[in-house]
Amino acid sequence: MSDSNVKTLKVVVLISGSGSNLQALIDGVAAGELPIEIAAVISNRPDVMGLTRAATAGIPTAVLDHKSFASREAFDQELMRTIDAYTPGLVVLAGFMRILTPEFTQHYLGRMLNIHPSLLPKFQGLHTHQRALDAGEQEHGVTVHFVTAELDGGPAAIQAVVPVLANDDANLLAKRVQRQEHVIYPLAVKWFALGDLVMTDEGKAVLKGETLPACGYQIKANEP
Ligand code: GAR
Repeated sequence: MSDSNVKTLKVVVLISGSGSNLQALIDGVAAGELPIEIAAVISNRPDVMGLTRAATAGIPTAVLDHKSFASREAFDQELMRTIDAYTPGLVVLAGFMRILTPEFTQHYLGRMLNIHPSLLPKFQGLHTHQRALDAGEQEHGVTVHFVTAELDGGPAAIQAVVPVLANDDANLLAKRVQRQEHVIYPLAVKWFALGDLVMTDEGKAVLKGETLPACGYQIKANEP
């Protein structure tokens, strides 16, 4: 950052796969646009591309394979210990495909963000692009939200809306949505790092002092 008064926020990123959203954050840091330090990247799956991306950027990595834990609770407890060793101010779920225990979500309440590939509250869960097509939606998109105990249910910070086009299949639509993911996730993380984005005790997302609507701050993609 050019402004030396801006404090760098320590962030831990959790992944399960390709890590393209992680890459967008890495690129934002490298470009001097994000006042964060990615202290660690933790994956619940070994050998995923996201771990390679982190290692290439010189970021410490850890693998916590959920299959080697007896229960969801035991995995989440160990994950909390692993995360907290880095004392992050923010935990970023970037394609982390795990259902989280209430203890875990409570522990990071107000300081954990997730990205979900739909215009929440529509299409919580999996296969969002196909479901949007099947439902005949004319618009689809992606949401960054604070994580609460409710799956894909916490207050939205930002949404990007993309059009659904006549010749779309799930793959084409996913690509269009993912381009927006890589725009809005760094933006939301930047807002949080600057103290502009917070979650209130009442569970509302607030941006620069203004309570956001249920959809969060909404942008329309300016490319088809
Ligand atoms: C992203 O499309 C993200 O929206 C989705 O997983 C993908 C991860 O891609 N997340 C979810 O579906 C969470 N419910 P990436 O590993 O390339 O960032």
